[in-house]
Amino acid sequence: MQEEESPRIVSGKLGPEDTTLDANLRPKKLDDFIGQQKVKENLDIGIKAAQKRGEAIDHILLYGPPGLGKTTLAFIIAGEMGVNIKVSSGPAIERPGDLAAILTNLQKGDVLFIDEVHRLSRIVEEILYPAMEDYALDIILGKGPGARSLRLNLPRFTLIGATTRYAAMSSPLRDRFGSVHRLDFYEVDAIGSIIKRSARIFKLKIDDGSIDLIACRARGTPRVANRLLKRIRDYAQVKANGVVTQDVTLEAMGKLEVDQLGLDEIDRKVMRTIIQKFDGGPVGLDTIAASISEESDTIEGVYEPYLLQLGFLERTPRGRMATRLAYEHLGIAYKRGRSPQGSLW
Ligand SMILES: Nc1ncnc2c1ncn2[C@@H]1O[C@H](COP(=O)(O)OP(=O)(O)O)[C@@H](O)[C@H]1O
Ligand SMILES: [Mg+2]
Repeated sequence: MQEEESPRIVSGKLGPEDTTLDANLRPKKLDDFIGQQKVKENLDIGIKAAQKRGEAIDHILLYGPPGLGKTTLAFIIAGEMGVNIKVSSGPAIERPGDLAAILTNLQKGDVLFIDEVHRLSRIVEEILYPAMEDYALDIILGKGPGARSLRLNLPRFTLIGATTRYAAMSSPLRDRFGSVHRLDFYEVDAIGSIIKRSARIFKLKIDDGSIDLIACRARGTPRVANRLLKRIRDYAQVKANGVVTQDVTLEAMGKLEVDQLGLDEIDRKVMRTIIQKFDGGPVGLDTIAASISEESDTIEGVYEPYLLQLGFLERTPRGRMATRLAYEHLGIAYKRGRSPQGSLW
């Protein structure tokens, strides 16, 4: 159920220091959840409609890069519905029996939250299909020609799945979710409001200029914003009597090697690799991954989305390409020999 640990300050992924941070800062009500207006409105309608009918809300799939609020929303939905939430994750549910045990322990209306739902194995997924569709669990008794199948009824529950890799999900699984919501990177203003809210909870003295500085460097990601704020708070406590000013903010951020766009050393390494080793691309994801000793999954799910969002990276059928903006940001002269189609310019 734990995501992999990440030492990166600007990674959206759940790191070792985030668990308590999350517990303190996580909004508990839909109204306190900042940004993602469209997702919020749709969820609000779904929740109210289900409440009016006195039924469990339809299965919900939340997808998008790490740190944008998927887990938070799952807890909010359960809270607003006034039901229990059981939490598990794709890799934690290894065998069909593990899932059967979870399902048979659910009560009417409960939310089952499965994080990293794209990592469920095929045999586990097959147990999930009738559970989601018919609230039924098929159990095979015995082996060979004498085997019989027994159908157990399950209470009506709501599955909330979360994934950073929508494309890696099987389509039969995707199709069984009644509603699918994509979380996008947040606008700088929304991140600013999240930082303000967190600073209030921390009882931290911070000026608006500092909030803006942090917001611009948070990669549109609430988790990163909160983590930067916490580091800056620590820095201010030691160096500036606990008061966060713009000077303190810039100093702390310099120490963390986070640049003015929120890129850290690994992002720059990805970009430099494409530019310097592969002539700006196109180069396949697996090749990039091998050159910097990272997993392609991690690059695709964690680093790449923000680089694409910035317009530093382009996806072409033949691989990833660095754009002019990326060259400029890294201070490398832009001299491309090839067009995206591979022909000479
Ligand atoms: N819309 C939001 N408003 C305020 N805080 C948020 C919001 N979204 C996320 N957060 C904060 O960011 C942290 C990471 O969110 P989380 O739901 O764990 O992301 P994900 O599950 O998508 O990786 C949460 O602990 C919460 O404090
Ligand atoms: Mg999560």
